[in-house]
Amino acid sequence: MKKELLTVLSNEKLNGDNYIMKLSGASYMKPGQFVEMLLPGFTLRRPFSVSDYENDILQIVYKVVGRGTEYMVDIKKGAIIDTLTGLGNGFTISPTANIHVLVGGGIGIAPLYYLAKEMHKKNLNIKVILCARSKNDLFFTEEFKKWGEVILATDDGSLGIHGNAITALEGQITSADYYYTCGPEPMLKALSKKYPNGEHSLEAIMGCGFGACMGCTIKTKQGFKRVCKEGPVFNATDIIID
Ligand SMILES: Cc1cc2nc3c(=O)[nH]c(=O)nc-3n(C[C@H](O)[C@H](O)[C@H](O)COP(=O)(O)OP(=O)(O)OC[C@H]3O[C@@H](n4cnc5c(N)ncnc54)[C@H](O)[C@@H]3O)c2cc1C
Ligand code: FES
Repeated sequence: MKKELLTVLSNEKLNGDNYIMKLSGASYMKPGQFVEMLLPGFTLRRPFSVSDYENDILQIVYKVVGRGTEYMVDIKKGAIIDTLTGLGNGFTISPTANIHVLVGGGIGIAPLYYLAKEMHKKNLNIKVILCARSKNDLFFTEEFKKWGEVILATDDGSLGIHGNAITALEGQITSADYYYTCGPEPMLKALSKKYPNGEHSLEAIMGCGFGACMGCTIKTKQGFKRVCKEGPVFNATDIIID
């Protein structure tokens, strides 16, 4: 973990309630890690996944859900943001998988962009399944096509398959494949129940973000784990389904 002062290079609307921000001055981070941003006037830092990283430039994609993310919309180019970088463990790319299946739900699509980009550099076979409530909640659909087959699904049927991640995955994954997913909790639970061969990036309401407060603890089959420190990425088989 490092505390770094990052400079905003751009901050633009992507689609629906989703925005994309690029910041310079960040140290290297791997796919699946996250950062915590201190916004002026807010006590608690806000966590965001690394959506891309290249040459000291960090990309995040954020969805406006409350006061902090509403504030972020008005952040201008040149602003300096106090950021904790390199948090969490990140994804572990399977050395044996036949096909690497990336499953993103809603804003959970964000960290899979960087993962897919890195997998493509390693010449791995990638299949990407992007799901959301409606077509306005899907993003990066064209970008992912540069790196592998892309399957889209929406709950309301406005784009791609009419259904959720489970419907979209049907027939798309074999026991020789390995999947990586990030998305809403019900989607992750349903996936881990049906498909053990993969890993999940989880979310939790966070305090410190670096393992000190125990505020983000979840129960796993290996005992209590901190989402910010031992996670946010956990093996599908370690997650406890209520
Ligand atoms: C490891 C990690 C990575 C994340 N990556 C991203 C990302 O890439 N893009 C993105 O848009 N969001 C991401 N989130 C969620 C993001 O941190 C919250 O949406 C944000 O902090 C909300 O701030 P706010 O002040 O706008 O909302 P608040 O006013 O604090 O809350 C608004 C609503 O959002 C809920 N909420 C707040 N924080 C979280 C959280 N951590 N998880 C689930 N619900 C929450 C609250 O319960 C409330 O209902 C991530 C969270 C974690 C833990
Ligand atoms: S947020 Fe403090 S331990 Fe995870």
